[in-house]
Amino acid sequence: MQTTELSVDQRFAIGRVDPRLFGGFLEHMGRSVYEGVYEPSSRHADEDGCRRDVLEALRGLGLTIVRYPGGNFVSGYHWRDGVGPREQRPTVRELAWQSIEPNHFGTDEFMRLCRKLDWQPMLAVNLGTGTPEEARHWVEYCNCPAGTQQADLRAKNGHTEPFGVKLWCLGNEMDGPWQLGHVPAAQYAIRAQQAAKLMKDTDRSLETVACGSSGPWLRTYGEWDRQVLEGLGDYADYISLHRYVDNRADDSESFLAMGLAIDRQIEEIDAVCRAVQAQRKSRKRAYLCFDEWNVWYKNMEMSGAGVFAPHLIEEIYNLEDALVVASFLNSFVRHADVVRIANLAQLVNVIAPLVTRGDELLVQSIYHAFRMFSTRRDGISLRVAQTGPSYASKHFERVPVIDASAVLGEDTLHVFAVNRSLTQAAPLRIERGDRPLGALASAELLTGPNAKAANSFECQDVIVARPYPDVRLRDGAATLELPPLSFAALTFRP
Ligand code: AHR
Repeated sequence: MQTTELSVDQRFAIGRVDPRLFGGFLEHMGRSVYEGVYEPSSRHADEDGCRRDVLEALRGLGLTIVRYPGGNFVSGYHWRDGVGPREQRPTVRELAWQSIEPNHFGTDEFMRLCRKLDWQPMLAVNLGTGTPEEARHWVEYCNCPAGTQQADLRAKNGHTEPFGVKLWCLGNEMDGPWQLGHVPAAQYAIRAQQAAKLMKDTDRSLETVACGSSGPWLRTYGEWDRQVLEGLGDYADYISLHRYVDNRADDSESFLAMGLAIDRQIEEIDAVCRAVQAQRKSRKRAYLCFDEWNVWYKNMEMSGAGVFAPHLIEEIYNLEDALVVASFLNSFVRHADVVRIANLAQLVNVIAPLVTRGDELLVQSIYHAFRMFSTRRDGISLRVAQTGPSYASKHFERVPVIDASAVLGEDTLHVFAVNRSLTQAAPLRIERGDRPLGALASAELLTGPNAKAANSFECQDVIVARPYPDVRLRDGAATLELPPLSFAALTFRP
């Protein structure tokens, strides 16, 4: 195969990589919270009932911000049910996933978890069956000093100091007919504007994420976003994007090209943001918050059948899924000027990098792809000039074999490259336009025996990141040969 040449140059910067691109999402769905992060009966449970083994693995993932408590769940959630003495919290019938919710884990438990793992909390308010008033009370509970009703309730529950939650989602996927309380865009915009005003009046420093389109496949895609941004005006700091991709057709060449579709979605919604800004003649620009993204199609079991902690959408991830996860992250880094937040959906058991079975823990392929990025995230995204081979797939006309991005830190240059070829090794040459490439500091490679290979409880090291020694440095450039179906994360001294 012809060599792919990648050239980066400090003078051609896209923007600072916001650490919040490496966020996650924890929803009260299936076994994500219960039997996931929280399981007081497990032999791994810590003093708060959280699973030490799960927390340790999550720590390794290097997440910066975590969205909670949903998801579709939030559109029927009343936050007061989840605070105060546990024995007094109500057990409720949960409608989004048809499950039983005992409310044993709520705001205070989530905040403690965030502190343990050094996560920034990101809360979603209920704009489905909830009210703007309920939302602003939650802000007061979380962010205001003791001395008024809701803040005093927090203090009574053991937290004198405010939690300081900066980022708040104004509902979830309100454009979707499946959502509890779904309404047309104009009505959502009014509801969200009212909530945002009350919430910002309660805490002037908070930022809001308006519900954008849940995916490009929706009839209202784009138009929903326009109406919402126009209606909310300066009350929207960010607009959300969601995307779950699949390989149902078993067309891996198209599936592995999915990063191109992500690039397109980002550019389209950003275009809407800019158009609304221009039309409003405003200095304020809404940025993008990609607050749900992942591969999801193999397990579509979404009905909890009226039980507690049912097994829902417990997807098994293979090698090609991990490469697509790397491509999502490449795309976010390439659009670092507009995408400010992104949340991998989800974290444990539910479409997740980690799966529990009793006291056992499985680390899935996508965990490694995410970690290879998140541990190399500090710096400025650089434009990657690229020449090299491409292919045509059923759904994409021209797919570069190599999918790449680069981040320049203070004393590091990180280069990320996915080889999308199913069968061929891809020769790669990396250079800097502004100076010779420095020494190689570290290199990791994620690959496996075939596209469908996956880790299991019995065999956990089928798809794992391994050190990659085969990088040669000569005349200020690096050359390597990426195996078929692989992802490399390389760190050079600048
Ligand atoms: O992540 C699972 C579900 O997918 C979320 O609850 C919802 O927002 C999306 O449709």
